Amino acid sequence: MDWGMRNRLSKLIQTDGKCFFMPIDHGYFQGPTSCLEKPGKTIAPLFPYYDALFVTRGVLRSAIDPLTSKPIILRVSGGTSMAGKDLANESITTSIEEIIRLNVSAVGISIFVGSDYERQTLQNLSDMVNQCENVGIPVMAVTAVGKEMEKRDSRYLALSCRIAAELGAKVVKTYWCEENFEKVVNGCPVPVVMAGGPKCETEKQVFEFVCDGIQKGSIGINLGRNVWQSKHPVAMARALYAIIHEKADVKKAQEVFNEEKNKKD
Ligand code: 5RP
Repeated sequence: MDWGMRNRLSKLIQTDGKCFFMPIDHGYFQGPTSCLEKPGKTIAPLFPYYDALFVTRGVLRSAIDPLTSKPIILRVSGGTSMAGKDLANESITTSIEEIIRLNVSAVGISIFVGSDYERQTLQNLSDMVNQCENVGIPVMAVTAVGKEMEKRDSRYLALSCRIAAELGAKVVKTYWCEENFEKVVNGCPVPVVMAGGPKCETEKQVFEFVCDGIQKGSIGINLGRNVWQSKHPVAMARALYAIIHEKADVKKAQEVFNEEKNKKD
């Protein structure tokens, strides 16, 4: 692997082989998502705990300090909204010149396997891989389901993840599933990170699925709403950091959460 590609990947995936990405890209199709109205303010107290920020160029330029030491994963697909006909009808939104200008460590792009726009979004991924490989920038594929959240079973996720890897993604972000998540990870030749999805009812549910996914081979999380929509976002981020980078189990994560919550949250 080329030096630049390896160097960028090493900023995302830490020396323990794990990662905690913080997504704040939701506005690109949802608008001013609850708790993300002022993204810079939302993520400021979480800074010590995440390894990279997943963000669009608009929010990066308007809300993130260019002097930040955190690596950036730039969201480069979009063009649809919750109000439109089909969230899957995405294009590439950002040129390779802009990606280089922003000095990002990776880009993230959605694919919608099984949708009416399957071929188009897979072509988007392939085109982005072709351009990014030339300049040593890793591509993270996002296996998106749009509004069809019920699609998230292991058979579907394994299919999507494998296709993303076959087309050249260096990392795949997908959903955790209760049954056979190990089949999703084992069928994918590149590292898999877990998205969170809509907010869970309790923090314990989040710790349980993250621990389960890590045990089954995922290298980390790209988890947003379950952190910054929590009543105690700092405590959530601290506890998830403990699972990802300190091998905490659910019980330990809950203790870390309670301890942090009682401090200042
Ligand atoms: C939105 C995304 C988000 O990055 C992803 O869904 C993770 O965020 P959350 O944990 O809130 O689901 O790709 O399209």
